[in-house]
Amino acid sequence: MSNLIVTGGSRLSGIIEIPGAKNAVLPVLAATLLNNGTSILENCPELDDVLTMLEILTALGCRTKREGPRIEVDASNLTSSVIPEVLAKRMRSSIIILGAVLARCGEVLVSYPGGCEIGLRPIDMHLRALEQMGAEVDGLNHGMLKVTASKLHGCEILLDYPSVGATENIMLAATFAEGETIIRNAAKEPEIEDLQEFMKKLGVNVTGAGTGVIRIQGGKEIKAEPVHKIIPDRIVAGTYLAAAAATGGSLVVAGVEYDHIGSILYCLKRIGCTVKNYQGGVVTLEAPARLKPLDLLRTSPYPGFPTDMQPQIVSVLSRSAGTSVVVETVFENRFRYTEQLQKLGADISVQGRAAIIRGVEKLRGAEVEARDLRGGAALIIAGLAAEGETKISGVGYIDRGYERVEEVLSKVGAKIRRVE
Ligand code: EPZ
Repeated sequence: MSNLIVTGGSRLSGIIEIPGAKNAVLPVLAATLLNNGTSILENCPELDDVLTMLEILTALGCRTKREGPRIEVDASNLTSSVIPEVLAKRMRSSIIILGAVLARCGEVLVSYPGGCEIGLRPIDMHLRALEQMGAEVDGLNHGMLKVTASKLHGCEILLDYPSVGATENIMLAATFAEGETIIRNAAKEPEIEDLQEFMKKLGVNVTGAGTGVIRIQGGKEIKAEPVHKIIPDRIVAGTYLAAAAATGGSLVVAGVEYDHIGSILYCLKRIGCTVKNYQGGVVTLEAPARLKPLDLLRTSPYPGFPTDMQPQIVSVLSRSAGTSVVVETVFENRFRYTEQLQKLGADISVQGRAAIIRGVEKLRGAEVEARDLRGGAALIIAGLAAEGETKISGVGYIDRGYERVEEVLSKVGAKIRRVE
């Protein structure tokens, strides 16, 4: 594993072009399995999770080609319905392939995705919905999962929580089911809308993404040549804006969808940043030398404040002029990274789902360890705002969601380098 060495004290300044969204390209790559033809995806981010997904598609029999942000997937000749365990373990979100393989092949064998640093992350909603559609779920021993369905049938499904992954899996599984599938209390994230747009280009009759109620009419075999541009990554945009806020910087992010980051920008304005939105997906942020605290912030499903920005905003607040409270309502254990922030001098106490952050004047560089993707991003932000040098290990987690993070940040004035 490589390490990042961050020397704090520089104000970020400059422009960052935001890449395509990890959490959009992964379900769209799963959806290419529905196509008995070649799908072309543009604006794909170059991330380890994307490479892992391409390895899984190849193992299923797809021919894939990646040239920078452009990916081609030819799924006309699937040869397997087994998702290799070593790959499924490497990327928890491989579970979103389940619905597509089941729809196309009638069966799928996948290892039970483990929990991770941010919580147990069960898949009960996924499996209950697929069983409702007529699938048979066999939780084999030694952690494998076998799901079979000679023919899925459409039905009405109510999610007891607007789960992003469960919504995606049901949309994909419903593609060839008999009749209509309705998903109520569906997730409304922009990534769900992007998946719907891609599925429409495949010729699937799917509507309602973004509204909470999604309808899919099951259809026949798909043979299409879709070309689809992936939406920009709202969490990457939010992360770099948060880094600028933490360093009293002034940053321009380009290629963003303003509406997708509305709740993030609202928070950055509340803590004292000046944010402006320009035509053509350009947003600017000017940060004061000292930020104001946030009396209360709760994460919630879109369009609320995203849980995937919670560690980053807590890191920014650790040097604000007062006490903030952040409540994590989506995952049950997403504050573990705060132990690492405390090594840098942050004054944070976690009570269940709430973190109380007492802003300090200074953070001091130290050796810290990333144990999950967004917690790792929070450590980079704290290192940029700290005095002295911070050494961050576990950078592999960060590489799963941020393209060449040290290059991107160095270009806007950060002192950060990667050492093997
Ligand atoms: C997606 O994960 C994202 N990952 C996550 O981003 C994101 O944090 C999450 O949605 C919430 O927005 C991808 O899109 C690849 P959920 P997912 O199902 O689908 C519980 C990142 O950093 N739940 O919406 O796994 C679950 O435990 C990652 O990019 C069940 O109880 O999230 C959680 O508490 C981290 N049973 C809540 O629902 C289920 O069957 C939301 O999970 C499914 C979920």
